Amino acid sequence: MHNTTHNITNVGVIGSGQMGGGIAQVAATAGFNTTVFDTSPDAIARCQATHAKLLARAVEKERMTTDQAEATKARLTYVTDLDQLAGSDIAIEAVVEDAAVKAKVFRGLDDMLKGDQVLATNTSSISITEIASATKRPERVIGMHFFYPVPVMKLVEVINGLATDKAITARVISLAEAMGKTAVPANDRAGFVSNRVLMPMINEAFYAWMEGVAQPEHIDAIMKLGCNFPMGPLRLADFIGLDTCAHIMDVLAEGLCNERYRPCPLLRQLVVAGRLGNKTAHGVFDYSAS
Ligand code: CAA
Repeated sequence: MHNTTHNITNVGVIGSGQMGGGIAQVAATAGFNTTVFDTSPDAIARCQATHAKLLARAVEKERMTTDQAEATKARLTYVTDLDQLAGSDIAIEAVVEDAAVKAKVFRGLDDMLKGDQVLATNTSSISITEIASATKRPERVIGMHFFYPVPVMKLVEVINGLATDKAITARVISLAEAMGKTAVPANDRAGFVSNRVLMPMINEAFYAWMEGVAQPEHIDAIMKLGCNFPMGPLRLADFIGLDTCAHIMDVLAEGLCNERYRPCPLLRQLVVAGRLGNKTAHGVFDYSAS
């Protein structure tokens, strides 16, 4: 695929977890040659198996033909050596939400990609300007924030760092649209728009539970039926991961210099107890039987 607006043929994805894997799947489905990198061979193998499963499911559901699924698989390459991303026109980073780890990844990409490639990050709350400062070309660094589950969710929040070149923003918006998403721009303030608005709502649901305003299932039923949300805020917190929610609240508190954004004590307590949500089969709700 080649398009003069985004001028991108080869997509590199760094990180093969739920977000990176989803981004790679969507890019390959849209016709981009896609290379997924992870340091862990096990993680890469899991990612490849998930792709095979989800593409088979898409065929079963008649969202794509067997030929299209096979062509999508053929556009996907799985690597454990970062150098194999050297041919990428854009690198989309989706590693752990840790500023130091991301800075290291961006230093590596900056050293390796010497041309006019775009350096994008899927961070959900870390400052794009800060990530960009790890490189010698902050004007090419941009936020490309996808939502979970990536194949299903339509939005890409496109975040400009302080130095992001407008031409890079235009290319990334065009790329997101070529990937079948709707791109919406935002600026680089803690949490951007999505988590600035979503996370305090989730946090408030924990306060409502902690204060006994209602039982968790009732809080969720009220918000689901009363606001037409697909999931209540506490169910959604489990889906996102309670550790991630608590971490994003801390990022908001620090980034916005306002203690009212700190995680609710009950949210923190569940995290300390290891009740992280779906990934540990127990968070607000217990999934061990399902
Ligand atoms: N990967 C791929 N596809 C998935 C999936 C996954 N992890 N989870 C669900 N799907 C697909 C299902 O396969 C199903 O498709 P089929 O037609 O093949 O069956 C489709 O999504 C709908 O799923 P279900 O019928 O099982 O259930 P549903 O109708 O309740 O939808 C949902 C599930 C799409 C997750 C829906 O509940 C929803 O939209 N929830 C809210 C999700 C949300 O808010 N996400 C954003 C989280 S915040 C974030 O990501 C940003 C951040 O920075 C923290």
